[in-house]
Amino acid sequence: MKKLLPDKVAIINGGATGMGRSTALLFAEEGCSCVIADINEVEGKKTAAEATKKGKECIFVHCDLTDLQQIKGCVAQTVKKFGRVDILVGSAGGSKVKSRDGVAGSPKKGIQYVDEEYYDSIMALNLKGHVFFCKEVAPYMIKQQYGKIVLISSMGVYSPPGPSSEYHSAKAGILGLTFNLAYELAPYHITVNAIMPGPVKTPFWDPVFSMIPESERGAALDKLGQATPLGRVGLPEDIANAVLFFSSDMSSFITGQALGVAGGVPLSRYVEGGFMGMRDQGGK
Ligand SMILES: NC(=O)c1ccc[n+]([C@@H]2O[C@H](COP(=O)([O-])OP(=O)(O)OC[C@H]3O[C@@H](n4cnc5c(N)ncnc54)[C@H](O)[C@@H]3O)[C@@H](O)[C@H]2O)c1
Repeated sequence: MKKLLPDKVAIINGGATGMGRSTALLFAEEGCSCVIADINEVEGKKTAAEATKKGKECIFVHCDLTDLQQIKGCVAQTVKKFGRVDILVGSAGGSKVKSRDGVAGSPKKGIQYVDEEYYDSIMALNLKGHVFFCKEVAPYMIKQQYGKIVLISSMGVYSPPGPSSEYHSAKAGILGLTFNLAYELAPYHITVNAIMPGPVKTPFWDPVFSMIPESERGAALDKLGQATPLGRVGLPEDIANAVLFFSSDMSSFITGQALGVAGGVPLSRYVEGGFMGMRDQGGK
């Protein structure tokens, strides 16, 4: 069967684990060379090796999204190695970033406890780093008159599973970035789209659930999944499939869109009988 990304080159930041990792493996199967840009060297190298076995050569590049020089270096290294950059997937992120005193996250949840240092660290990773990654790849994509940018936001922007103003503000910023860049880069045949995941089973949740016993974390995540209309937690592959769609020419007339891959959220969960039994009577 014809591959969807023949001879393409992609940078997947946050590609070491979770959705980024699944995306790299899927892209490799579709004929794409991937650069895994991440701070997790051990998992990043494993993902690059696994992806290479599936298809084209894939490499790991150590890149901390909170360091603008490392972003610049990563894009330069990609072009030096592969000669071009066709796709940028922005998957690096997290809602728990260690502060200078080593404590993950704000001490307490709620707007009255927002902490400046924590806010700055969340914004640096989840928004600023992505703005500057786009800045670095755009000149190459403009020169090529071709490019695909896919950014990972969060369904929490519309439907927060818990209070996290700093993180959800950053993820809302990703949507602003997506719409602006889609408009700005359309004349160069570069599409820019976002994905808004619901709860997905990845290491993202490890620090979020760090205060509950390890044995109960799976059940806590399943509970979040059960609250979605489709009644299950998402898998990293669910997100990778949507990223592939936006990264391939199957979506060549689509730009500036934010796609929810969230089991139906923000629709509410079906309740037996519906509102006053109306759903079971065909809404009459
Ligand atoms: N899992 C979910 O339920 C969920 C829901 C909505 C949105 N998201 C978003 O999805 C994206 C992917 O997360 P995931 O669920 O695959 O979790 P994940 O933790 O497996 O993946 C995040 C990746 O980002 C990397 N990373 C963290 N800090 C970095 C830094 N400073 N520089 C470079 N890389 C860094 C991590 O090493 C990791 O490989 C994130 O942006 C996350 O905010 C996740």
